[in-house]
Amino acid sequence: FHILLLNGPNLNLLGTREPEKYGHTTLAQIVSDLTQQADQHHVKLSHLQSNAEFQLIDRIHEARGNVDYIIINPAAFTHTSVALRDALLAVSIPFIEVHLTNVHAREPFRHHSYLSDVSAGVICGLGVDGYSWALQTAVKRLTHSN
Ligand code: DQA
Repeated sequence: FHILLLNGPNLNLLGTREPEKYGHTTLAQIVSDLTQQADQHHVKLSHLQSNAEFQLIDRIHEARGNVDYIIINPAAFTHTSVALRDALLAVSIPFIEVHLTNVHAREPFRHHSYLSDVSAGVICGLGVDGYSWALQTAVKRLTHSN
């Protein structure tokens, strides 16, 4: 199986970006931990972080036919991007939406997501553990094919 991890804008700054909200773990550490977790399950993990909406969309298009599950932290695009929603729907690849912070406890403009209602599920507020739980569920669903 092949799982694609996508991270949206500003997440390249994890570790130094508002650490009181987002923690001290860098994106490189998250990706390395998740790759290790995927390896243990003999699952291939690919990763893209981009600050550009079109690059995330292009990567989703490329995933059609060769990626089985997507784990995505769309970052600020969560709250703005109909295009990202449409791309995910277009390729019909199930996905889990992840946020480090509890977006519902933050500014009202973060309470709405363009992706949540078409996602397999949403994890928010659990920090970096959210990625790990998402991977665990993706692997479980793929290997039990349900
Ligand atoms: C975020 C929450 C978003 O509201 C914000 O724009 C981000 C990160 C999170 O992981 O908590 O950039 O997706």
